[in-house]
Amino acid sequence: MRFGFFDDQSREYVITRPDTPLPWINYLGKDSFFGLISNTAGGYSFYKDARLRRLTRYRYNNAPLDMGGRYIYLRDGDSSEVWSPSWMPVRKTLDSYECRHGMGYTNIRSKKNGITTNTRYFVPLNSALEVWDVALTNERDAEAQLDVFSAVEFALWDAWDDSTNFQRNFNTGEVEAPILSREGDQEDVLQSTIFHKTEYRERRNHFAFFACSETLAGFDTERNAFLGPYRGWDNPLAVENGQSCNSIAHGWQPIGSHHLKLHLKPGEVKRVIFLLGYHENPTDEKFDLPGSNTINKASVLPVIRELLSPARVDTAFSELREYWKELLDKFIVCTPDADTNRMVNIWNAYQCMITFNMSRSASYFESGIGRGMGFRDSTQDLMGFVHIVPERARERLLDLAATQLSNGGAFHQYSPLTKRGNNDVGSGFNDDPHWLVLATAAYVKETGDLSILDEMVPYENQPGTEMPLFEHLQRAVQHTLDRLGPHQLPLIGRADWNDCLNLNCFSETPGQSFQTTTNRDGNTAESVMIAGLFILSCQEMVELASLFVSSPVKEKFVFFDPAFYTEKAKDMEQAIWQAGWDGEWFRRAYDAFGEPLGSHLNEEGQIFIEPQGLCVMAGLGVADGKARQALDAVRERLATPHGIVLLNPAYSCYQLRLGEISSYPPGYKENASVFCHSNPWVMIAETVIGRGERAFDYYKRINPSAREAISEIHRCEPYVYAQTIAGKDAPTHGEAKNSWLTGTASWNYVAITQYILGIKPTYNGLSVNPVIPDDWEGFEAKRIFRGVVYKIKVERRSLLNSIRLTVDGQIIEGCIIPIPPEGTREVNVLVELK
Ligand code: BGC
Ligand code: NOJ
Repeated sequence: MRFGFFDDQSREYVITRPDTPLPWINYLGKDSFFGLISNTAGGYSFYKDARLRRLTRYRYNNAPLDMGGRYIYLRDGDSSEVWSPSWMPVRKTLDSYECRHGMGYTNIRSKKNGITTNTRYFVPLNSALEVWDVALTNERDAEAQLDVFSAVEFALWDAWDDSTNFQRNFNTGEVEAPILSREGDQEDVLQSTIFHKTEYRERRNHFAFFACSETLAGFDTERNAFLGPYRGWDNPLAVENGQSCNSIAHGWQPIGSHHLKLHLKPGEVKRVIFLLGYHENPTDEKFDLPGSNTINKASVLPVIRELLSPARVDTAFSELREYWKELLDKFIVCTPDADTNRMVNIWNAYQCMITFNMSRSASYFESGIGRGMGFRDSTQDLMGFVHIVPERARERLLDLAATQLSNGGAFHQYSPLTKRGNNDVGSGFNDDPHWLVLATAAYVKETGDLSILDEMVPYENQPGTEMPLFEHLQRAVQHTLDRLGPHQLPLIGRADWNDCLNLNCFSETPGQSFQTTTNRDGNTAESVMIAGLFILSCQEMVELASLFVSSPVKEKFVFFDPAFYTEKAKDMEQAIWQAGWDGEWFRRAYDAFGEPLGSHLNEEGQIFIEPQGLCVMAGLGVADGKARQALDAVRERLATPHGIVLLNPAYSCYQLRLGEISSYPPGYKENASVFCHSNPWVMIAETVIGRGERAFDYYKRINPSAREAISEIHRCEPYVYAQTIAGKDAPTHGEAKNSWLTGTASWNYVAITQYILGIKPTYNGLSVNPVIPDDWEGFEAKRIFRGVVYKIKVERRSLLNSIRLTVDGQIIEGCIIPIPPEGTREVNVLVELK
């Protein structure tokens, strides 16, 4: 069953009924001011950091689930009937409803009693504010008298504090209200702007504003006055009465609500613009008059004035559309499969941008207060994003590297605001450092920008510790070499990519964090997953080292040449064959007692997905058929119609020696759900052994667009990947959870574009090496790579995967299109599969 449809032409998903199985959300903003917005206008906004600069309040796990947002209430002056054009929070049945989630904007259009409301929410480029552009149309034959109310609830900035520290918070709230009475100065935005300035009197130099383009009939800034005692957002008293209270918040719960009285003639369209924004003043210019607590508004007023103009709003919206068009036009594919085209060309790329921006911080499943930016998360997100805005990827890489520890290890997370690592969720996840190598390689391959390897970057943000980025990568590899276990496999540390495989934790205390507890010495438990990743990392280092060898900064540290990494990869491969191969598939790990996991010797958890994917990606067993054997075992034991589960059989009980993984009921999360992030590793592995049919089959199983028709089972948004889909051991097999912020976005993008379609950046040029399904006759693609447009046409001549490449009419050996001469704009490529 569907709850909407894709409008690919407009790059939108159109939701046609408000009661979707879960809130189906979108994101506003691209670099500093961000908003989450649901299909019924729920959600919240923040500036840069979802925890420390939260503008509006949102209560997670509320009932109903999605209450609190960017609300507009309409009250019909004739009948006194009240409704919300976004359905929530009033939930009055609408005569028509449509929500269009697009690239960086959401448009909700509905009609009731002859009044059509069309609201477009977006954050203009380079702005720290969001626009609510509301158009009201009177489609009645008679004049309409409408009371319009806006409503947001302000958060007191630190979202953690905001939801816990009430003995203080109920006293600190402060606002500056609109000055309704000032005469002869009708245009002045001060008459229609609400300022939220809690804690501005002391150490904050930032405040929020909520402005409106219309003359106000009233306003409210105190929640209790607006809602009325014992009432909720679904029936505010002020709205019911058709009159605001002009309330001023002193502590308690500051809100922002404008009240407008509109008279619309038949057919008349009235446009009202609201702006919700964030503004900072220099510390010594905070106040209007020295000694006062009144905000100095000199620099904010021009910002507000500018965007209250409809013409400027229109331009800002066109600029946003243009921005996204340009970004997405960098890579367009036209394959025989509509779900692939739509995900690659629109939604998957878009989701990559969002995960790049948010990491795992703020979604409808991540509260924005629990997790900062993850080290391994951000590095992997970057791999799907780097071609979109390479400059931002570069900056992010350097930020991440600057949090690296001098022993090559990593903090698991860092704060986007301070850009510093924090220990709240620990460190010692021994896979973490390697993702920096993979991400750097992806960046350099895309851009050709070798200079990033020379950049001087500190460790742990400590001045004086700067070393070239290349040395950071060397230390990442060394970190593993310094931590080998009894089988010469990498020690797992706190956990590896699978955060919940906590082999040294042994936690018996309820509520104790699996992420920070270690009760064993940690010198025995080993990870085959890290071993596979280590080889991938070494393969990248071989290439990077040969490019870096002539760098001017090479003398600053001990440089290891490519041969070093080749040798270390070989040693690791040997260790895997000796202790990591179970006979039919790769083992997963060794526990703290030196016993294997992911082995036929185990009763549960006999086979795990991660090492099958990563080891084959690293090329292991390709020559002698073991790779094929491992992937056949995946097919037989892990594949389901809803995707590939993480392990099998699921753990039925909590096991002290395994940690969090066994804390989940069977079929959920890391305990044998379809943990989508790891599926593309198997897709890629299948392409490595040439099985395009299987790779694509797995791709389709979790492709959200391909699952749209079963939305009542899948339940999450059909336009973005979710982290997990309940596995075959779960009673709700097929149900997705944790949509949006997942490494799945980036890895699926990489799997489909670079391995199945086979269009892959390399240091020496764009490589085209498709491994596609049997029944495809070919496909076409346009890819901008290092400033040149590549027009690629793939034609299948047989069922084999060998390639004949013709570049601008010339047959070329191999599958890499050489970098064309300077000044070339366009390259035409014909790829024949023979
Ligand atoms: C989740 C993991 C997550 C970890 C760290 C666990 O509860 O299942 O997916 O990585 O917490 O926040
Ligand atoms: C989600 C985390 O964000 C990611 O870092 C981790 O690899 C997966 N969970 C698997 O546990």
